[in-house]
Amino acid sequence: MADLAAAVKKAVKAPVIAAGRISTGAFANSLLAEGKADLIGLARVLWADPEWPSKVREGRENEIIHCAPDCDDTCTKLVTKGKVAFCVRWPHDKLQEWKAK
Ligand SMILES: Cc1cc2nc3c(=O)[nH]c(=O)nc-3n(C[C@H](O)[C@H](O)[C@H](O)COP(=O)(O)O)c2cc1C
Ligand code: SF4
Repeated sequence: MADLAAAVKKAVKAPVIAAGRISTGAFANSLLAEGKADLIGLARVLWADPEWPSKVREGRENEIIHCAPDCDDTCTKLVTKGKVAFCVRWPHDKLQEWKAK
């Protein structure tokens, strides 16, 4: 959706946030460097791995647990149904603990 963000940015004066499974630091930086967005939004990326920002900042991108492109948006579907959301990439014990809530 980066090109959509860029199109919106051309049409408005307000800061524009680009989102859409921005999974690498390099891609996030390129969107800012190319002026396609003013800010980067991370939802599923952080839901899968809350440590994404520090791993990128510290050059540990190989340790990132990525939002799975083949997951079929489990978390978003749960949210839209008003259910407690979880991430299929969470460790098994954390997932069971969360599902029991
Ligand atoms: C679990 C979850 C909850 C979300 N809740 C909201 C919400 O309450 N309001 C909203 O405008 N967007 C919500 N979103 C959409 C995100 O803000 C974001 O625009 C979208 O997921 C695309 O970014 P992403 O590819 O980084 O996930 C939610 C997304 C997820 C995954
Ligand atoms: S549940 Fe699926 S779509 Fe949602 S953050 Fe986890 S891997 Fe990504």
